[in-house]
Amino acid sequence: MRVFRFDHLDSTNTKARELAASGFGEGTVVVAITQTAGRGRGDHTWHSPKGGIYLSAVVRPNVGRRVTDLSFLAGIAVMETIRNFLTAERVISVKWPNDCLIDGKKVSGVLGEALSSSENGLAVLGIGLNANVVASELAAFEGNAFPATSLLLEGGAPVNYEVVLATLVERLFDWYERYGKDGFSVVQQHWERHCRFIGEKVRIAAGAVYREGGRTGLEPSPVTATCLGIDEYGALVLSTMQGERRHYFAGELICYSR
Ligand code: BTN
Repeated sequence: MRVFRFDHLDSTNTKARELAASGFGEGTVVVAITQTAGRGRGDHTWHSPKGGIYLSAVVRPNVGRRVTDLSFLAGIAVMETIRNFLTAERVISVKWPNDCLIDGKKVSGVLGEALSSSENGLAVLGIGLNANVVASELAAFEGNAFPATSLLLEGGAPVNYEVVLATLVERLFDWYERYGKDGFSVVQQHWERHCRFIGEKVRIAAGAVYREGGRTGLEPSPVTATCLGIDEYGALVLSTMQGERRHYFAGELICYSR
C-alpha cells in the first residue's frame, strides 16, 4: 500500500484517478485534510472542511468484482470503524447504498468511480467521513432527510484523526481481501445485518430506477414501501404497498418510518 497525503486537494477521487492513470495501481491511497471540490453521489457535492476524513483508494475490479460491490464494502468498513469510537447504545446503520448513519444522521458517504479501460481497468473508492467536523460546518444540512453529523458531535469529544484514519484503511483493505476471496454474498449478509431498515417502511425519491419481473421502470413520484434488503447485485429490494417486489438499482432513500 502507498499513501499520498495532502493538505488541500480539489477532490481525492480526482487525484487518485490521476495517479492511477499515471501507473499507480491497486493499493494506492490518497488522503486530504480539506477538499475544495469534493464530489458526492449523483450531482451532489461533498462539503469537506478541516476535521473530516477524505480518502480515496485505487482498487481493481475484475470479472468477479464490480465497482458497486466495492462501494458496499467501503460502507461496511466505515461502519466498523466508527463503532470503535462511539458508545454501544448509539445506533449505527448502513443506509442504501453506501451511507453510514448514527441514530439516523448521516456521518459518511462513499463514491465509487470506475475508470476507463485506458486506465488499466482500475476503480477509485472515495470515502468522506465527518470525524471532527464542527456543528457550524454542518448546519446547512439540518433540513435534509438524513441530517449531517460527525463523530465529534455524536461522541461529545474530538476523536483522534490519525487513529480513525488508520482504522478505516485497515478495515477497508481487510474487507477488500475478504471480498476477493469470498465474493459479494458475505458483504451482502453483513450489510443486511447492519441495516436498520429491513422490515421497515422507507420512502424512495422520484426518479428511482427499478426492475420488477422482466421489466425496468422509473418512479414518477416518491414511493413508500417495505425494505426487504439488497439482492446479489446490491440493488435495494422493496415491497410496494400493492405487494410488488421491486429491485432498485438507482435512486435515493429520502426517509424512513422511525
Ligand atoms: C455521497 O454523496 O454520500 C458520497 C460522498 C463521497 C465523498 C468522498 S470525500 C473523498 C472522496 N473524494 C471526493 O471527491 N468524493 C469522495
